[in-house]
Amino acid sequence: MDWGMKNRMARIFKPNDNRTVMLAVDHGYFLGPTERLEIPSKTIEPLIPYADSLMLTRGVLRTSVKSTSDLPIVLRVSGGVSIISKDLSNEAITTSIEDAIRVNASAVTLSIFVGAEHEHQSLINLARLVNEGERYGIPVLAVTAVGKEMARDARYLSLACRIAAELGAHMVKTYYCENFEKVVEACPVPVIIAGGKKTSELDALQLTYNAIQHGASGVDMGRNIWQSDYPIAMLKAVRAIVHENFNFKESCDLFNRELKVKETER
Ligand code: 5RP
Repeated sequence: MDWGMKNRMARIFKPNDNRTVMLAVDHGYFLGPTERLEIPSKTIEPLIPYADSLMLTRGVLRTSVKSTSDLPIVLRVSGGVSIISKDLSNEAITTSIEDAIRVNASAVTLSIFVGAEHEHQSLINLARLVNEGERYGIPVLAVTAVGKEMARDARYLSLACRIAAELGAHMVKTYYCENFEKVVEACPVPVIIAGGKKTSELDALQLTYNAIQHGASGVDMGRNIWQSDYPIAMLKAVRAIVHENFNFKESCDLFNRELKVKETER
């Protein structure tokens, strides 16, 4: 890895613990105005102080995040489908590497769809993006998207994560599952977890704690943060698990203490 690549990776994974709290707000790229992300700036701005990086599209970045922000950007560069498309795996690269450089992205990201109809296309998208990222020292985060018909188990997620790493992804995002340590062991680059659909705050904290215990290098979490009625408290509690080694109970206590602090974002 050259200096620029290492430096960008260190902006995402904090060098003191090699972990990260990435805030995912890219959902609109295929879901449109997702609940509680209808006005992106309103959702994003209050959370910025508590995140290590922000995952989003160039459209939301340019319109909804101040250019004076020094939060590292993980730029989603794939898309071309919508929630009502017949096949969500039919994604292409939507954003040039030059545009990623222009917005000063610390990393670029795309989804891969192992086992889906457009598996080949999505894997070639990844390989090409890695080639471009290598040219300019920009790391690539591969998102292992899971189709409705695919099991989110260690066997399938290991397959998807390992293929992503073999094609050169510098980090991988996947889902937490039983035997998650096997997914991490078989993947030679850092693995972070998505939060998935909104659950209770306590379930999301338990998921975070379990993932970190079983080798995750952090989270790339969206809905379980900003669809909560207490997004700042949630983000602080998740952060404490990731960076301060809080256990589940300690994170719940922190969350409950934070509820008493006035949330100003809504
Ligand atoms: C969508 C994504 C999301 O960013 C990812 O799923 C994380 O968000 P959430 O925690 O809401 O699942 O990559 O394809």
